[in-house]
Amino acid sequence: MKAPRGKGMGLAYLLFLNLASFCLPTPLWKDREALMQEEKSHQTGGNVVLNREEQQLSTKLLNLKKEEVSRATARGEFPPSMHFFRARSLIEQSTVFSILKRMPKGAVLHLHDYALLSVGWLVYNATYLPDCYICFTPTGTVRFRFSKPHPPQPVPAQCSQWLLLEAYRRQLQNVTEFDSSLLRNLTLVTDFPELAYPSQAFIWKRFEEIFLIASGIICYAPVFKAYFYQGLLEFYEDNVQYVEIRALLPPVYELDGTRHNKSWSVAAYQEVTRQFMKEHPDFLGAKIIFAAHRMENVSQVKEAIVTAMALRAQFPDTLAGFDLVGYEDEGHSLWDLKDALTIPYSLGGSLPYFFHAGETDWQGSSADSNVLDALLLNTSRIGHGLALTKHPVAKNLSLKMDIPVEVCPISNQVLLLVADLRRHPAAVLMAEGHPVVVSPDDPPIFGAKGVSYDFYEMFMAVGGMNADLRTLKQLALNSIKYSAMLPDEKAKAQDVWQKKWDQFVADLSDSFLGEL
Ligand SMILES: *[C@@H]1O[C@H](CO)[C@@H](O)[C@H](O)[C@H]1NC(C)=O
Ligand SMILES: *[C@@H]1O[C@H](CO)[C@@H](O)[C@H](O)[C@H]1NC(C)=O
Ligand SMILES: *[C@@H]1O[C@H](CO)[C@@H](O)[C@H](O)[C@H]1NC(C)=O
Ligand SMILES: *[C@@H]1O[C@H](CO)[C@@H](O)[C@H](O)[C@H]1NC(C)=O
Ligand SMILES: *[C@@H]1O[C@H](CO)[C@@H](O)[C@H](O)[C@H]1NC(C)=O
Ligand SMILES: *[C@@H]1O[C@H](CO)[C@@H](O)[C@H](O)[C@H]1NC(C)=O
Ligand SMILES: *[C@@H]1O[C@H](CO)[C@@H](O)[C@H](O)[C@H]1NC(C)=O
Ligand SMILES: [Zn+2]
Repeated sequence: MKAPRGKGMGLAYLLFLNLASFCLPTPLWKDREALMQEEKSHQTGGNVVLNREEQQLSTKLLNLKKEEVSRATARGEFPPSMHFFRARSLIEQSTVFSILKRMPKGAVLHLHDYALLSVGWLVYNATYLPDCYICFTPTGTVRFRFSKPHPPQPVPAQCSQWLLLEAYRRQLQNVTEFDSSLLRNLTLVTDFPELAYPSQAFIWKRFEEIFLIASGIICYAPVFKAYFYQGLLEFYEDNVQYVEIRALLPPVYELDGTRHNKSWSVAAYQEVTRQFMKEHPDFLGAKIIFAAHRMENVSQVKEAIVTAMALRAQFPDTLAGFDLVGYEDEGHSLWDLKDALTIPYSLGGSLPYFFHAGETDWQGSSADSNVLDALLLNTSRIGHGLALTKHPVAKNLSLKMDIPVEVCPISNQVLLLVADLRRHPAAVLMAEGHPVVVSPDDPPIFGAKGVSYDFYEMFMAVGGMNADLRTLKQLALNSIKYSAMLPDEKAKAQDVWQKKWDQFVADLSDSFLGEL
C-alpha cells in the first residue's frame, strides 16, 4: 500500500506560504502607502488644505457617505446607478443631500435660458395670467401664446385653433388633471423612461420640443422678466451665488404682437439681475452667453457671430460670449462652421467662446472632434466634454490651457449618454484633477431643482468613495475661478463665498456635535 504522501507535502507547502507572507514580500508593498497618497493628491481637491474644523467635518461627512452607500447597496438601490427619475425621491431622503443643499456652491456655469425654474411656476402662475391662449398638436402636445385685443395669429403649423385658456379651463371637468398634463408637456419626467425614450435621437426631439412649448409662455415680456427673477431665486435658495446662462435670445413679444430684438432681451436680463441683487445683496450676479443653434448653416452662424460681437460691445458686463446649442450628433460640427467661428480671430478682436463640445458617445465622429476644435478655437470652457477622455492630446491641451469641463451628470444620464454615474467619463477627469465644474444644464426638464442634485451625483459617484470635503470645496472654488466674472468681480465673489463657507462649516460642525 502506497503512503498518501501528497497530503503531508501539501501541509508543508501551506506552512511555507504562511511563513512567506510574513517575511518575503515586504519589498513588494513598501511603496503602497506612498503611491496611494500620491494618487489621492491628484484627485479633485487633493491639494486643498483644510483647517482643523474642516478636517473633522470632512471625516464625519465621509463616514456619513460610506454609511449611506452601504445601506443603499444592501437595498440594491444606489441612487447614482439608477435613472434619476426613480432616484430622485431616494436622494431627497439622504442626509448627505440635505448637507449639499446647505453648502454654498459658488457659481453655476452651465444653464439654459428657458430651463431655470421648476415648471410648476409656469403652469400654476404664468398660464393663469389673462389673455393666455393654447392650441393642441396632433402628437399630443400644446403651444401657448398671449395676445390682445385679437387672438394670436397665425396658428402654429398643425396646431388646432387657438383657444382662450381661461375659457377652456372653465368648461373642463377636472382642471387639476389638465394642469398636470401641462406639467408633463414641460418636462421629460415619466415613470418608465426606458420605454418612453428608446434612443438619443428620439429623446432629443422631445427635449427640444419642450423648449418650443415653454418659449410661448416665457417669451411674453412680463413673464420673461418674472421667470428670470424666479429662476435666480430658485438658485439663490439652493445656495448658489452666481449664474451664467446660455441664451438663444429669440424675440420677446408684447400682448399686441410687438416683437423686441436681442438687445432688449439682454437689457432685460441685466435689469432683472440688478433688481435681484439689490434685494439679495449676497447674490453676485448673472451673465449671458449668447447661443446659436448648431443646425444653422454657415451664413446664419456668421450673422450670429456678428450679432454676438455687437451685443458684447453694447453689454460688456453682461454678455460673456458665444456658444452653439442643440443635438451635437446631428448638428453642424465646429469644423463645418469654422468660416463663421474664426471671424473674431481674423478681425483681430476677441469673442470668448463657451462651446458645448463632445456631448456624444460616438468616438471618431465629427461631434467627437469638437473637443479638439473647441480648444483650437480658444474656448474658455468645454460644455459636457464626455469625449475628452478618449483624446489624450486634446486632454493635455485643455490641461495646459487650464480649460475646465462643465460636468452635468443628470443631464447626461437622462439624455442617454451614460446610465450608471459611477461610469461617467468625468470620474477619470476627477481622478486626475483635471479642472471640472458641476452644472445641472436644464434642471426643471429633468425634474431636478438648482444644482444640489448634481452635486450629490458628483460627490457620491463620479468623484468616487474618497471624494470628501476637499473635493466639494475645490468644486465650489473652481466654479468661481472659471466663471466669466471680471477679476474684481471674482475677488468679491471669492470673499462672499468664503464667509458663507466658514459659516456653513461652523453650523454643520455644531449640528454634527448635536446629532451624531
Ligand atoms: C381630478 O384628477 C386627479 C388626478 O389627475 C384626481 O386625483 C382627482 O380626484 C380628480 N378630481 C375629480 C373631482 O375628479
Ligand atoms: C400635453 O397636454 C395635453 C393637453 O392636456 C395632453 O393631452 C398631453 O397628453 C400632454 N402631453 C404630455 C407629453 O404629457
Ligand atoms: C405669481 O408669481 C409672482 C412673481 O412673479 C407672484 O408675485 C405672484 O404672487 C404669483 N401668483 C400666484 C398666483 O402664485
Ligand atoms: C435693437 O434695436 C435698437 C433700437 O431700437 C438698436 O439700437 C439695437 O442695435 C438693436 N439691437 C440689435 C441686436 O439688433
Ligand atoms: C442658410 O439657411 C438659410 C435659411 O434656411 C437659407 O436662406 C440660406 O440659403 C442658407 N445658406 C446656405 C449657404 O446654405
Ligand atoms: C483666447 O481667449 C482669451 C479669453 O477669452 C482671450 O483673452 C484671448 O485673447 C484669446 N486668444 C485668441 C488668440 O483669440
Ligand atoms: C501629455 O502631457 C504629458 C506631460 O506634459 C506628457 O508626458 C505626455 O506625453 C502627453 N501625452 C500626450 C498624449 O500628448
Ligand atoms: Zn447645455
